[in-house]
Amino acid sequence: MQSISIRRPDDWHVHLRDGAMLDTVAPFTARQFARAIVMPNLSPPVTSVVAASAYRERIVAAAGGDFTPLMTCYLTDDASADELARGHAEGVWVAAKLYPANATTNSAHGVTDLRKLWPALERMQAIGMPLLVHGEVTDPEVDIFDREAVFIERVLGGLVRNFPALKIVLEHITTAEAAQFVADAPVTVAATITPQHLHLNRNALFAGGLRPHAYCLPVVKREKHRLAVRAAAVSGSAKFFLGTDSAPHSVEAKEASCGCAGIFNAPNALESYAMVFDEEGALDRLEGFASEHGPRFYGLPLNEGQVTLERAEVSVPERVAGLVPFHGGATIGWRLA
Ligand code: DOR
Ligand code: ZN
Repeated sequence: MQSISIRRPDDWHVHLRDGAMLDTVAPFTARQFARAIVMPNLSPPVTSVVAASAYRERIVAAAGGDFTPLMTCYLTDDASADELARGHAEGVWVAAKLYPANATTNSAHGVTDLRKLWPALERMQAIGMPLLVHGEVTDPEVDIFDREAVFIERVLGGLVRNFPALKIVLEHITTAEAAQFVADAPVTVAATITPQHLHLNRNALFAGGLRPHAYCLPVVKREKHRLAVRAAAVSGSAKFFLGTDSAPHSVEAKEASCGCAGIFNAPNALESYAMVFDEEGALDRLEGFASEHGPRFYGLPLNEGQVTLERAEVSVPERVAGLVPFHGGATIGWRLA
C-alpha cells in the first residue's frame, strides 16, 4: 500500500500555549487535525468560562481556517460545580482536566485532595462532561517510573467505582498497567496515546548522553511498557484514541540544567502514528484510532472529509519554527499529502 486515506482526524490532547508560542504552534495542529482538545495549563490556568472563551478566540485567530478548538477547564481544589455546568451548557467547555498538584508543567494550582473535587465530579457525571486525568501520583517517595501505575492503584480504581457514570479519559498512557486497566474498565473509561510513547522507551532519554528532547511527563518507560501501549493503540479497541500531547517549549527551556517536560510533535504527528500502525501491520486500524474512537467517546459527530498519507522518505528538520520537533534530524516513512 503506497498511500492511505482516512476520515479527517482529531487530536484529543494538545498544548497550544498562548501569545507568540500559540501563533507559532497552532497552525501545525490545524494542518493535521480538524479539532483538538486544548489543555488548560496556562499561567494562570484556565479556570473560568470567560477565560476559556477568550482563549478559544485567540486560538481560532492563531490557527486560522477550518479548525475547532475544544476547550477544557483546569480543575483546582475549589472548582465550582456551577461554573463547570454553566461553561458546559454554553458550549465553551467540552471537558475538565485533573492535574494532581505539581505533577507537571503549570500544575501548581492542581488538585491536592480528590475529596475536594467530589461536588464537581458529581455534577460532571450528571451532565455527561468528561473528566480528563493526568494519571500520576506526586508522592516524592514513589519512583518516577512507577507514578502512573501507583496512581491507577491508589486513585483511579476508586474514582471509577465511585463515579460509575462519569466519562474518564486516562491521558497519555505509558504503561502496561494503564493499558490493561483501561481495557478491563467499564465503557466509561478510555485513554489517549501519544506518538512518543509508541516510539520511545526510557533508553531514549540517555542514548549517548542526556536527551532533553525525549523528556516528557509521564516519562517514557521500559520497552515492555512501550510494547503494551503499542498493542493497545493498534488493537482496534474503541477505548484507545489519538492524543498527541504535543507540548512545545523553547529550545532554551528544554536544553537547561532543569529542562521542561514536553515533546513538540505537532508538525509530523499523523505521520508518526502511521509509522507505528504500518510497522504493526495495522494500517487498516489507523482510522478508528485517529478519527472515530475519540468523537464516539466524547459523543461528538465524526468529521467529514478525508486526509491522505503517502509513503515517502521524509527528512524531518532539526528545527521547525525555531523549536525542536519530535523525529527532528531523522527520516520518517510517511507524508501527509
Ligand atoms: O510532558 C509534558 N508536558 N507533560 C505534561 O503533562 C504537560 C506538558 C506541558 O504542558 O509542557
Ligand atoms: Zn498534556
